[in-house]
Amino acid sequence: MRSSLALAVVLCLAGTTCTRPSNTREARDFERMRRQQRYDAYDVSRFFPNGATMQVPPAHTESRGPVVGRGNASADGAAQYIVSCAPCHGAGGFGGGPMAPNLGDVRPPSLRSARIASMPPATLVAVITNGFGRMPPLGWQLLPAARAAIGAYVQTLGTSPETPTTRADSAMASRLRALDSLSAAGGTVGQILELHKSDR
Ligand code: HEC
Repeated sequence: MRSSLALAVVLCLAGTTCTRPSNTREARDFERMRRQQRYDAYDVSRFFPNGATMQVPPAHTESRGPVVGRGNASADGAAQYIVSCAPCHGAGGFGGGPMAPNLGDVRPPSLRSARIASMPPATLVAVITNGFGRMPPLGWQLLPAARAAIGAYVQTLGTSPETPTTRADSAMASRLRALDSLSAAGGTVGQILELHKSDR
């Protein structure tokens, strides 16, 4: 801890890493994550009984590496979609996943459009692999077969059955759209808070 502080001071004096955190939201979020309490690899842990930060993975789990597809392609696509895409694009593809409220600059779009349903599969796989604009690349964590299965599933989202989670996704997506157009139209903080309340 002390040595890393010393290193930070040295780098700071050398003028390499010492940047004043700007006032943007992104910079504040980054600072919050950078300063939060955490264990580094090989640290002593007060949480686990054996005192080690790095734990042996529980039986029948994998510690890391690609999510390997199992079973038939379409079932895989749905399951992998929930893990890799739904946090942003929502369980039903409406664009109201649990991360979406935090992505105020560029919201995850709905994946239920005719344009996406008719996209060449290779284009969709390329988006998943390399990312797209503000969407991060996911090729590093998904095998090619999983990417293809997800792509195929995404193109059927428009016909997927409604469930409580897809309804929550849809409701969140329309709330965010309303919020975004209100802010774009110069809505006051009061109006925006009112909109939040009206949905609860
Ligand atoms: C961290 C949030 C996040 C995750 C996870 C994510 N996306 Fe996205 N996605 C976005 C955002 C944000 C955009 C809009 C990017 C932009 O316009 O700059 C986007 C855009 C897209 C687009 C639109 C491309 C176009 O041509 O308009 C597709 C298709 C897409 N994502 C599919 C997926 C699939 C499939 C997955 C899962 C494998 C996934 N995304 C995972 C945030 C995410």
